[in-house]
Amino acid sequence: MRGRYRGRLLRLLTVLLASLAGAPAMAAAAVLMVTAGGAVRQFTSNELLTWPNAATLEVPHDGAYGRPMSYRAVPLRALLSALPPDAADTIEARATDGLVAQLPRALIEGTSVPWVAVEDPAHPWPPMLGKTVSAGPFYLVWQNPEPAGISAEQWVYALGALTAVASPAQRWPAITVDASVPFDAPARRGQAVFIANCLPCHRLGGSGEGMVGPDLLRPMPATAYFTEVGLRALIRNPAAVRSWPTQLMPAFGAAAIEDSEVDAVIAYLRYLAARPK
Ligand code: HEC
Repeated sequence: MRGRYRGRLLRLLTVLLASLAGAPAMAAAAVLMVTAGGAVRQFTSNELLTWPNAATLEVPHDGAYGRPMSYRAVPLRALLSALPPDAADTIEARATDGLVAQLPRALIEGTSVPWVAVEDPAHPWPPMLGKTVSAGPFYLVWQNPEPAGISAEQWVYALGALTAVASPAQRWPAITVDASVPFDAPARRGQAVFIANCLPCHRLGGSGEGMVGPDLLRPMPATAYFTEVGLRALIRNPAAVRSWPTQLMPAFGAAAIEDSEVDAVIAYLRYLAARPK
């Protein structure tokens, strides 16, 4: 008896849930988790939309949409100051699709201003350019991104969590060039380019948090099975090397990374592959 009754209840619940999922106004449960100073706060979209610091932000060049966009957004600095102070010098921005960007505090507090755009569950954003989903429920966008050279991977769509963490160099010494490497050596510059542009998706020998693309150092380093020409072409335009419908890696044009930075990233990957383990 009980079992049958429960079965019917479950069916009823399933039908109810399915009909709720179809109603956009009920997609309200989105939560942004912010962790710093030993505290964890969970902000709902509705809470952030009505925050005292919320404002309307015009974004003239939105990478995810390929056109000007206007958002209801809260300044990231204000959001962070709602938590206890934290000496950690990096904010990790984690997307629900596996991308994890490491944002230096100096960048967050610099001339380019980061905002968390909040999708209104009652008025969802359109799908992103070339995608079937919107950039929501939360989207890290930048006001005046040019001076600090904010990379495309530092515009984090499908944002789910922000966490104060130690810098990549402190967390992952295995992918940090030795102190003996000259400050102007390509490998050192390549490390910075990699952290801003590639580490959000790729790990290196297990170091890093990104889970969108393959580890580029383990089990076999990418520099061992790609030629220099092939690697360079792949970074510039992955589809120029090989192509298939579900290919994910974005192309890095000259506006995103200049030639000398592509060289530097390759020098950095070679350096790590050659370094004694
Ligand atoms: C948004 C995520 C993303 C970013 C950012 C990204 N990649 Fe990728 N990359 C991928 C994915 C996913 C693949 C697997 C092929 C695919 O789906 O495109 C890949 C494949 C590769 C490969 C081929 C590996 C193999 O064994 O086939 C190399 C090399 C590579 N990426 C290098 C880079 C470098 C260098 C950067 C930074 C300049 C970078 N990627 C930035 C997602 C990314």
